[in-house]
Amino acid sequence: MPTWAGEPLLDVQGLVSGYGKIGVLRGVSISIHAGEVVALLGPNGAGKTTLLRAISGLLPWNAGDVVFGGRSLAGAGPRETARAGLVHAIEGHRIFTQQTVYDNLLLAAYDAPRAERRRRIEEAFAVFPEIADKRNDLGGALSGGQRQMLVVAQGLVKQPRLLMLDEPSAGLAPVLVDRVLNVVSDLRSRGVAVLLVEQLVEKALHGSDRIYAMAQGRIVLESSAGAPGLAERIENVYFGHKAADATGGKS
Ligand SMILES: Nc1ncnc2c1ncn2[C@@H]1O[C@H](COP(=O)(O)OP(=O)(O)OP(=O)(O)O)[C@@H](O)[C@H]1O
Ligand SMILES: [Mg+2]
Repeated sequence: MPTWAGEPLLDVQGLVSGYGKIGVLRGVSISIHAGEVVALLGPNGAGKTTLLRAISGLLPWNAGDVVFGGRSLAGAGPRETARAGLVHAIEGHRIFTQQTVYDNLLLAAYDAPRAERRRRIEEAFAVFPEIADKRNDLGGALSGGQRQMLVVAQGLVKQPRLLMLDEPSAGLAPVLVDRVLNVVSDLRSRGVAVLLVEQLVEKALHGSDRIYAMAQGRIVLESSAGAPGLAERIENVYFGHKAADATGGKS
């Protein structure tokens, strides 16, 4: 098992953010090392998506800092953040339905020189042969599962150092869930770090090095993914028990 020495790639420190007057994140701190896969778990409304949005520069912060590769991302928007190598693959809706699959990927990789873009796109197609076959079809003609793959592929062609995936398996048939989540282990083997929001706790534990669980805008649990008894501790987060109630209680 790898050990994660040295400076983290991503260091989120006491992040406070929300939507206008609605406070959501109440001082969130997480860190991720290069090549590490970290799952972010927690019940609906815990603030997982909000945390990803704040990290990637889609939402302003009221306090705290996000340090990536040793540099603060304070004030950086989504483009600058992505250019630094911190890429947020946004669920479902971010594909262009009137553009071909290939053009969707070209647009996602707009920062890279032309030959490099083609190379990255072929690499993404190698990961998802299902959408490679549809490269000349319009984005709007893809099935739900193929759209999810295209969204992940859009993240891949940006060549992230850290890819944040928000429920990439949502709405997929079981066989496609595994296809999409296998990409995560593939990324890890290439040294890419992943922050994965996933409702399928068992699958998330299986594919991760470490987990954080959130509830009500706070991190309430951090653990290595293989720790004994972890599944039960996570269950307690979902069902709102206090840690003290969990010992010896039947569930
Ligand atoms: N655009 C918005 N404007 C106002 N409040 C919002 C907005 N989006 C989310 N919220 C609120 O912020 C809180 C956290 O929502 P968030 O979507 O981050 O949770 P989540 O952990 O991703 O949940 P889920 O598992 O359902 O995706 C919730 O109370 C939600 O109602
Ligand atoms: Mg969410």
